Amino acid sequence: PDGTLLREYEFIAYDREIEIAPGVFFPAWTYNGQVPGPTIRATVGDRIRIRFVNQGSHPHTIHFHGWHDPEMDGAFADQFVKPGEEFIYEFDADPVGIHLYHCHSSPLKRHVHKGLYGAYIVDPKEGRPPAHEMVMVMNGFDTNFDGDNEVYAVNTVAFHYMKHPIEVPVGELIRIYLVNITEFDPVNSFHLHAVFFDLFRTGTKLHTEEFTDTVMMCQAERAILEVTLRYPGRHMFHAHQSEFAELGWMGIIKGIAPVNA
Ligand code: CU
Ligand code: CU
Repeated sequence: PDGTLLREYEFIAYDREIEIAPGVFFPAWTYNGQVPGPTIRATVGDRIRIRFVNQGSHPHTIHFHGWHDPEMDGAFADQFVKPGEEFIYEFDADPVGIHLYHCHSSPLKRHVHKGLYGAYIVDPKEGRPPAHEMVMVMNGFDTNFDGDNEVYAVNTVAFHYMKHPIEVPVGELIRIYLVNITEFDPVNSFHLHAVFFDLFRTGTKLHTEEFTDTVMMCQAERAILEVTLRYPGRHMFHAHQSEFAELGWMGIIKGIAPVNA
C-alpha cells in the first residue's frame, strides 16, 4: 500500500537425489528440488516475503544474511520448521550486495552440506552497469559421509563448465556473483586465468581498490567480480586449492571475438 515493491516466493524443502557428476548421485536436501536453491534478487528497500513449507524428512529453516528482525532469523531451535509445517519469512532487502541464505537447523554442518543454500542479491537503487552476469556458488559434496568432500564444483556439477564453457564476447563487462558455501574445508578460492578482475567484497560498496586474479573465502564469504576480457579464447577458472580443482571445481570462460574483428 505504501508503494514498496513486494516480492513473494514459495520455497518448499524436500529430499531429492541430484546428479553431481555424470552417474554420481547425491541424496540432497533441497529448496525447490535444486542445489543451490533459487537465487533471490531484489532492489534495496524491496519487501521480501517467502512462504517456506517443509516437506522434507528433517526440521529446516531459511536463515538469511542481511538485515532482518531476529524473529525471522531461522537459527534457534524454537524457529525450526518441522516436517509438514510452514513459516513465512518477511524482511526488507538490505544492504546492497551479494549475500546468501541457508538452513540453520542442527547439526548445522549436515544441513548446510546436504544442499540447503542459495544466493541472495540486493541491487542498488540506481542499478549496476550492464554486464554479462552470472552466479557461482562454490560447493562440495561428501559422497561417502566421512566428513570430507569427494566432489567440488561451482553450482554443484563437477567440471560442468569445462565441458560447457561460458561464452562471453571480448570487450564486454562480465560480473560474477561469487558465494562460498563449501562445508568441511576451512577455505575455498576462485582464480581466473589470463586476466585481473575488480573485487568488491560482499558487494556492499560500489567502488573498490582491490584488483587481483585470486580471491580466498571462508564459508559464507562472498564477492562481486568484474572483468572485461581482452583476448578471445579459453580462460580457465578454478579453486586455487589444487585438490578441489582436480575433484571438479574447474571451468572455462570462453572469450568470443567480435564479429568484425
Ligand atoms: Cu535443514
Ligand atoms: Cu550463514
